[in-house]
Amino acid sequence: MRKHVLLPTNVETSRLGFGCVQLTAHHNRKEALSVLEHAFSLGITHFDVARAYGFGRAEGILREFLRRKRHTVTVATKFGIEPPSGLAGNVRVINAVKRVLRPFPGLLRQAKNRGAAMVKTGIFTPESALRSLETSLRELGTDYVDIFLLHEATLADASAAPLVETLLSQVAKGKIRQVGVASDFRKFPRDADLLPAAYEILQFNDNVVDRSVGKLAYRDRRWLITHSIFTPAGSLRKAVQAHPQITRDYSLRMNIDLAEPSAIDSLLLRFALWSNANGIVLFSSKNPQHIAANVREADSEPYDDARMLQFLEFVDQLLATMSPHQGVTDSRGPGTLRSPS
Ligand SMILES: NC(=O)c1ccc[n+]([C@@H]2O[C@H](COP(=O)([O-])OP(=O)(O)OC[C@H]3O[C@@H](n4cnc5c(N)ncnc54)[C@H](OP(=O)(O)O)[C@@H]3O)[C@@H](O)[C@H]2O)c1
Repeated sequence: MRKHVLLPTNVETSRLGFGCVQLTAHHNRKEALSVLEHAFSLGITHFDVARAYGFGRAEGILREFLRRKRHTVTVATKFGIEPPSGLAGNVRVINAVKRVLRPFPGLLRQAKNRGAAMVKTGIFTPESALRSLETSLRELGTDYVDIFLLHEATLADASAAPLVETLLSQVAKGKIRQVGVASDFRKFPRDADLLPAAYEILQFNDNVVDRSVGKLAYRDRRWLITHSIFTPAGSLRKAVQAHPQITRDYSLRMNIDLAEPSAIDSLLLRFALWSNANGIVLFSSKNPQHIAANVREADSEPYDDARMLQFLEFVDQLLATMSPHQGVTDSRGPGTLRSPS
């Protein structure tokens, strides 16, 4: 990956960041590590994880990958959502349960749902921030994180002065390079002044349907990381099939075969890069070919505004044909709603 960005700390990293939410969904650790190595070999140097990912196991996998390359990559982790403690959160127990229940998908799903119900959210006291940071540093095998993010915090959570002071004290100690908020876009205030200036980095969902960056009045005053770029893929593919005439019209105008499924993925990525023009765009993938395609796409000549606006017009036409209950759902298949990540 040839395209880089400079974080506010003057540290350079890749324009595309790799999201680690799916790391523990691989068949085994070796497979997860080979996907991380593949992304790195293609030039991806930013990795986004959270204490909660994989019930606390994702950071441990990332630790193995980070050995010998910690200083050539940037790492963001999050706190505020806590994986279950005790046996239910024990890595060995979780792995054993997964192994035993793998042949029984129904039981495995039940066990996962039960585990998910034990996850605690909204834990933003200064003590929990410090505890989570120390756990993350240990799990990641590092003495600093580049970015420490509040995971799905509200404005009230993020504004609490004791929390801000605690986070800044860790910046002063060098354990954190920068702090930020990683929440659903709807949780961000309209007015920049409401969010303490300590939060230099804002991380949120942005895609061709949400169009969040364009709605953020103070986008030029903060450093942005965006994600959920492929969320509309499944719905858009269905809409493309259902409306061949609109698709043909716009394929001619844009000189792209929009009926080709990979064309939609490519345009979703290009939109995300166009929309968040100076920040990091995250994606997650278990598929090495998709990772390579995303890097290729990001490195190629960007579309100009006119072409991107044609794509937005095309999406608007398709959205207008959908009844409200059809909505825009997860990229992993029609009718599925994504779990919080
Ligand atoms: N609160 C937060 O801060 C927050 C919230 C959500 C996500 N995130 C971060 O953002 C990362 C990105 O995750 P996301 O949830 O936003 O998902 P995403 O990247 O929008 O979508 C992931 C899905 O897209 C598919 N995909 C990726 N590249 C593709 C391609 N070229 N062609 C077709 N399909 C492709 C993947 O399938 P394959 O595996 O088959 O490639 C995967 O199912 C997460 O890992 C996490 O680190 C943060």
